[in-house]
Amino acid sequence: MSTPILPAAAAPAARAPARPSAMQRLLLHPLAKPTVFLLMMGPFAAIVWAAFTDGLGANPAETLIRWLGDMTLRMLCVTLAVTPLRQLTGWHALARLRRMLGLGSAFYMVLHFLAYAWFDKGFVLADILHDIAKRPFILVGSAAGLLMLPLAATSFNRAIKALGSARWQALHRTVYAIVLLGLLHFFWMRAGKHNYAEVAVYAGVIAALLGWRLWRATRPTLRVVG
Ligand code: HEM
Repeated sequence: MSTPILPAAAAPAARAPARPSAMQRLLLHPLAKPTVFLLMMGPFAAIVWAAFTDGLGANPAETLIRWLGDMTLRMLCVTLAVTPLRQLTGWHALARLRRMLGLGSAFYMVLHFLAYAWFDKGFVLADILHDIAKRPFILVGSAAGLLMLPLAATSFNRAIKALGSARWQALHRTVYAIVLLGLLHFFWMRAGKHNYAEVAVYAGVIAALLGWRLWRATRPTLRVVG
């Protein structure tokens, strides 16, 4: 039997893996996803409650359509904030939440469209198509909405496998076009009322989120020589 070269006490200890930060542990907790889901759906429950208790003001349909539009844009911003936040903080477990947040954006967009189609257009397809052709801000919103559908439909593991990682990633890059079209849709709608304050806030947030990615993609990478 061969004897160890070093006595056990003198053998170099294997380096212990770095302990995940408290935030990482929180994000990896089994309750993290259900909590984020509830946070995402809480506002929806509140607006449904308001709708059934006469809490939507003098023009409930308009309030509902606009509120759902606001939620769509907010959720898109939150989804786009995951990657920069992850890169800035090192909280890599945030990536686990991105798919759910993206689906939340699509959920609010579909409801936004359905509320418009129902309350503004009585679900008459010809009227909806006429409106899309007549009002540029509706056309732009529809383009953003349509582009969101393939992303929602391919956000499941089987679709990722079927498409292959490269094609899936290329497809999901349309989220940048979607958020810009959503912003243009909002800007165009508010331009009619010369009311740009909120649009400017969203534009600032979106510029920061996309600017961060552009900066990361274009900065020279450090190469270790030797
Ligand atoms: C990604 C897709 C979309 C986003 C991000 C979005 C976002 C928004 C936002 C932020 C508003 C303004 C809310 C406010 O004034 O507080 C809005 C209003 C509106 N959107 Fe969208 N929207 C999208 C898709 C659509 C689609 C597909 C339609 C219909 C075909 C649509 C129709 C409308 C209408 C009718 C209004 C209200 C206009 C008014 O009250 O004068 N949107 N949307």
